[in-house]
Amino acid sequence: MRTTFFAKEAAPKAAANPLGLKGIDHIEFIVDDADQWRDFFVNQYGMAGRFYADENSGVRGRRAHVVGQGRINFLVAEPQGRGPEADFMRWHLDQHGCGVRDVAFRVRDARHALAEAARRGASVVRALDEHDQFIGGSIAAYGDTIHTFIERKPHTEFAPGYQPVAGGLDEGDINFAMIDHVVANVEHMEPWVKYYEDIFGFDLFMHFDINTGRSALMSKVVSSTDGWVKMPINEPSSANSQIQEYLDKYNGPGVQHIALLTPDIVTTIAEMRRMGQEFLDVPDTYYDAEFDARVGAIEEDKETLKQLKILVDRDEGDGGYLLQLFTKCVFARPTLFFEVIQRRGRARGFGEGNFRALFEAIEREQERRGSL
Ligand SMILES: [Fe+2]
Repeated sequence: MRTTFFAKEAAPKAAANPLGLKGIDHIEFIVDDADQWRDFFVNQYGMAGRFYADENSGVRGRRAHVVGQGRINFLVAEPQGRGPEADFMRWHLDQHGCGVRDVAFRVRDARHALAEAARRGASVVRALDEHDQFIGGSIAAYGDTIHTFIERKPHTEFAPGYQPVAGGLDEGDINFAMIDHVVANVEHMEPWVKYYEDIFGFDLFMHFDINTGRSALMSKVVSSTDGWVKMPINEPSSANSQIQEYLDKYNGPGVQHIALLTPDIVTTIAEMRRMGQEFLDVPDTYYDAEFDARVGAIEEDKETLKQLKILVDRDEGDGGYLLQLFTKCVFARPTLFFEVIQRRGRARGFGEGNFRALFEAIEREQERRGSL
């Protein structure tokens, strides 16, 4: 058994943020049933309906809901009728099952972002779509995933044809502020690290090499120079790696997990559990004396964390720590899951010290499915 972790920080780039990113605008999921997945995020993730679109509202080929909380927006879309868009969405569902199609960024100037990305070597998959209040265009990323660049006038609609939904308050106990990070599983991470460095001007800021003895992965984290957009990229380094299992089941590279940042993980996890969301198992032995030695003093009550099975990891060096927990895979295929994360102090890690516990938990799941 071997686990090695190391972190490094690259020197800041001369051209920081060449595409003018302002952050993640939304994540689009192509799903089999848009109503069902809207209800899922409303009931189990405390989100509120924000927008709706279909043929009657002026969007061809799809029915879509936008749900969200804080700065998080999830677009869940299902195919409707015939035509190129509906046919593509059915193909995507057939290939991948439910999954992420688009990690969309808000940008200062969409025309510039698309042109500059193309100049830096990106493939444009959707040309600039210009409206009075909204401009968008998209480039290819890993697998069938895309990145759309969106420029929107303040206080306007989500996108042309998307109608605001009345009602829907997100004032429950589940409290999410923003997307902390989005993780990709790919066959080979190096070209995709280079893609984010060359096209987005992102920095490489962390590298893990993890081997639990039965399953292995390598991960590199790329990040915008301001640190607000963080994208770990995983590749499998053993045939029975959970990353390889994802690639097999998803039928190629794609988004593995999305981490949602909360200022209060204890209340949020308690409420998500109450509403029926299942999380990965954490053995009670996780909280034994080794936990105290590894984590040190924390503000939360350890018994509460143990009851809710919340994981804790302390950053090397500067004193911060993070709390996190991973949901079970949410779709029919064992592909995508979510992470709930709270950062204390100056914690900037991703739970590297929890990888072994996570892997052990995932491997117990794999054993039940007969994949190991
Ligand atoms: Fe994560």
